Amino acid sequence: MTKKFIIGNWKMHLGDEKSISFIQKLLAALKTSQTVVLCPPVVMLRTLSALAPSVGWGAQDCAPFDEGPYTGEISASMLKSAGADWVIVGHSERRHYFHEDNDLIRRKAFQAQAAGLIPIICVGESEGERADAQEILSIQIQKSTEGLHNFIVAYEPLWAIGTGVTPSHADIKKIHAFLKTQVNSKIPLLYGGSVNAENASDILNITDGVLVGGASLKVDEFIAISHA
Ligand code: PGA
Repeated sequence: MTKKFIIGNWKMHLGDEKSISFIQKLLAALKTSQTVVLCPPVVMLRTLSALAPSVGWGAQDCAPFDEGPYTGEISASMLKSAGADWVIVGHSERRHYFHEDNDLIRRKAFQAQAAGLIPIICVGESEGERADAQEILSIQIQKSTEGLHNFIVAYEPLWAIGTGVTPSHADIKKIHAFLKTQVNSKIPLLYGGSVNAENASDILNITDGVLVGGASLKVDEFIAISHA
């Protein structure tokens, strides 16, 4: 069986103490052959990756530049040296709150790839775009992955993120099949949006992995998803 990706995106949650106790509990109970990756707030990356080298580590964003006078930015190579091997780019929260477009996302993904990180490129349609989802996804994928060869695509419909609502099994399957036509067959295609311990196994059966937000903050639930 090919390994599936179980990727936790902590967003702006879990500070020093909580994240360390999360990792201690995770290490004591995690028994899985899947590829488990955690994306904590970036300030925790070095500490946590040193504490748990058996888990994969990722960041939630990176700069679209390699280095220079870009106040507040963190380069992909800095993330790599802090212990990351993956980085999420183009999450819908970045697209929405920070006005990131496909071109900026491609530049970030390019920097990630150049630094030896695997970018996890998020795409997804909004509620109002559902009727045109395939067209929207096709444009997002084309524009944000142009010229890249080693990346992961995470399909995250905006209306499913943090809402407790997921597309039907048939709809995820249909979109997954469509996404397969849009990228090289080696590119892993993940699903994200209200993944939890109950629906994970069903979703993992029809995708290459899951990107988990809220449910990745609860250690028992995250372990259950990793064992699904
Ligand atoms: P959620 O978030 O699992 O809380 O819906 C997913 C995501 O934003 O990646």
